[in-house]
Amino acid sequence: MADVILRVFRGDAQGGEEKDYKVPVDEGMVVLDALHYIQANYDGDLAVRWNCKAAKCGSCSAEVNGKPRLTCKTRIDSLPQGEPITVYPMKAFPVVKDLVTDVKWNYQTHKKIPPFTPPKDTDWRMYQEDIDRIQEFRKCIECFLCQNVCHILRNHHKNDAFFGPRFMIKIAELEMHPLDTLDRSAMLRKEAGVGYCNITKCCTEVCPEHIHITDNAIIPLKERVADKYFDPINWLLRKLRSNGNL
Ligand code: SF4
Ligand code: SF4
Ligand code: FES
Repeated sequence: MADVILRVFRGDAQGGEEKDYKVPVDEGMVVLDALHYIQANYDGDLAVRWNCKAAKCGSCSAEVNGKPRLTCKTRIDSLPQGEPITVYPMKAFPVVKDLVTDVKWNYQTHKKIPPFTPPKDTDWRMYQEDIDRIQEFRKCIECFLCQNVCHILRNHHKNDAFFGPRFMIKIAELEMHPLDTLDRSAMLRKEAGVGYCNITKCCTEVCPEHIHITDNAIIPLKERVADKYFDPINWLLRKLRSNGNL
């Protein structure tokens, strides 16, 4: 294959600019390989976060040709030929340097979710179908590509009002666990802000683990909240209970 031009963002939180690098392409090469070539041959100080190079650690997330992707899973030959490949940091998070962003908000958000809480003296037997339902959510590699593409965070910056799709699946995993005893619907409705999601499915489209974030997690969570808080019969029962009439 011919050489390619990688047009890479160089800069930090104060600003930056694009810089072009000519990279020779080998068969099977991915964008992360090209970034490593740049580090080895042009600019050793290019900041790139990565760990596994196997699409499993979620560290190498960036925006390649404007689309959130894992750079270790994006083959050069899958991109349009004969034009520069742009590589930018994730837009939804503050830039630290070059392609590295500060994703600590995600971990702080994670800490707000009450963890798995089984009953005392749990009998750990479960039905296989219950395991299967939540197993999908446990495939998450915390790449935060879904958080990056969600317009509520990316464009409207509602980080204080919406936990984002990654944590909707975390809550779904806990809420659908057959042995969990907590009810997180009040948190979902208020602090986690499930009502902000308008089911655009952009998060589902970019998930490298192909988790059905909207259909299998967010929509069922929305239904739980609607049943609990907006169903008139449930509302009446809650009222009677709080008045001591039941
Ligand atoms: S479906 Fe909801 S969570 Fe996913 S990107 Fe759209 S608004 Fe965000
Ligand atoms: S749900 Fe998918 S896109 Fe979102 S953080 Fe997990 S693996 Fe990444
Ligand atoms: S380097 Fe681990 S997911 Fe890309």
